[in-house]
Amino acid sequence: MKDILERLEERRAQARLGGGEKRIAAQHGRGKLTARERLELLLDQNSFEEFDMFVEHRSTDFGMEKSKIPGDGVVTGWGTINGRTVFVFAKDFTVFGGSLSEAHAQKIIKIQDMALKMRAPIIGLFDAGGARIQEGVAALGGYGEVFKRNVIASGVIPQISVIMGPCAGGDVYSPAMTDFIFMVRDRSYMFVTGPEVVKTVTNETVTSEELGGAKVHTTKSSVADGAYDNDVEALLQIRRLMDFLPSNNLDGVPEIPSFDDPNRVDESLDTLVPDNPNKPYDMKELILKVVDEGDFFEIQEAFARNIITGFARIEGRSVGIVANQPMVLAGVLDSDASRKAARFIRFCDAFNIPVVTFEDVPGFLPGTSQEYGGLIKHGAKLLFAYSEATVPLVTVITRKAFGGAYDVMASKHVGGDVNYAWPTAQIAVMGAKGAVEIIFRQDMDDPDKIAARTKEYEDRFMSPFVAAERGYIDEVIMPHSTRRRIARALAMLRAKDVERPWKKHDNIPL
Ligand code: HXC
Repeated sequence: MKDILERLEERRAQARLGGGEKRIAAQHGRGKLTARERLELLLDQNSFEEFDMFVEHRSTDFGMEKSKIPGDGVVTGWGTINGRTVFVFAKDFTVFGGSLSEAHAQKIIKIQDMALKMRAPIIGLFDAGGARIQEGVAALGGYGEVFKRNVIASGVIPQISVIMGPCAGGDVYSPAMTDFIFMVRDRSYMFVTGPEVVKTVTNETVTSEELGGAKVHTTKSSVADGAYDNDVEALLQIRRLMDFLPSNNLDGVPEIPSFDDPNRVDESLDTLVPDNPNKPYDMKELILKVVDEGDFFEIQEAFARNIITGFARIEGRSVGIVANQPMVLAGVLDSDASRKAARFIRFCDAFNIPVVTFEDVPGFLPGTSQEYGGLIKHGAKLLFAYSEATVPLVTVITRKAFGGAYDVMASKHVGGDVNYAWPTAQIAVMGAKGAVEIIFRQDMDDPDKIAARTKEYEDRFMSPFVAAERGYIDEVIMPHSTRRRIARALAMLRAKDVERPWKKHDNIPL
């Protein structure tokens, strides 16, 4: 019996070594942790239960029958993050470059199926060279099975991907269908085809970093939702993110003890909006002053910075924050900002996370580059996302709410439940200058007349009161009481229950 136990320990120790000490040293030499070290950091101490440690590939081509490594390039199982169950898989780059074989795919599929069955989140850590080249179509079939499961689980359980090394070929599409992608700076890259293929096909010379590094994907392509300096920071931040997310679409948001008084007032908010309507101010200051303990997990911080999206808590319960940022492009809505916010709102709606919107928007960005780039369709995504949402929607207009952007940003008309305005709000079709230039064009040569007309327009429309007179705003509130008003609104809205007509699914403009 003792022999048998010892042999098990030996086999386990062998499997834990993955591709061997030399490759582990090379992995460390590149500033990367191994798959198992990463899982240790991601999960609560001693909570990881590994599955399929002894699985091997069944390939016999290209001499592969002679090279089998237990685990076959992916470590899978489950554990807990702050006590809540999550399923995990981590590509092991030390084993065949983490490449995906049929057996490797079966391990991931098992975890995907269990996560869905248990209605628990799934987190994938990527560090891999794509399809196992020696396996050909068997690997492609494996990818297809993984992709399909990503889609079936979408909107049911949170799916998170962390890119911690290469992520090429077939490996990119599974993350692309998950809810969030995070990357590690300078060590990870994602692309469908690598620099060599790019050179052959398009004659472009690019490095892996230039083609698909964290900077590219967080600032240009918006494929990734955030980037961190190293493995440790990335994994700790994922733990932080998971605390904001429900386990599934029926569980409701997690509630964490909060020591921040929901009635806390902040007098400094009364002077946040400058007297000059063209002067910017930092909307993040408002967010940090309103939410519990100033704890805000930003999503897509480096992309379309004219809109801010992220998770926070009010009275210990998660909320999604969407806010125009007057510091960047005056907070205008363009295609990128619309896409960014629309996707975030849809995530919140799928997982029953209420959305709080802070609004200061001068409208949609004019110009050929926006129109040619499909602003109509991209703007419609945001309008669609707010309009279809059935989660509680609380909106606070701090300053400008102009034109179509007023309608889009969770106005009462598209489904806002509680809509507040600060006394500094200006709810109108457009700013005074633009309006006067159009409706009083005949007076344009007379500066006195134009000044008088502008004043007239400002007095009548540049306030929250025209909207409030019609009931489009529920209440004009004191800026210092914003936290209390939002907390009360969200508490009242907890029981919100709306029914929509049956449909197979909607047809959001893509
Ligand atoms: C089998 C692979 C592999 C792969 C890497 N390895 N990728 N084995 N299949 N796809 C092995 C290497 O042979 C090597 O084995 C070890 O992993 C480490 O690889 P290196 O090349 O030494 O590492 P590095 O220099 O860091 O380069 C990493 C890399 C490179 C950039 C990922 O390995 C690479 O370009 N690999 C191929 C990428 C690719 O073309 N994949 C197929 C995509 S097609 P040893 O024994 O020496 O340690 C695809 C189609 C699916 O995925 C489409 C579905 C939609």
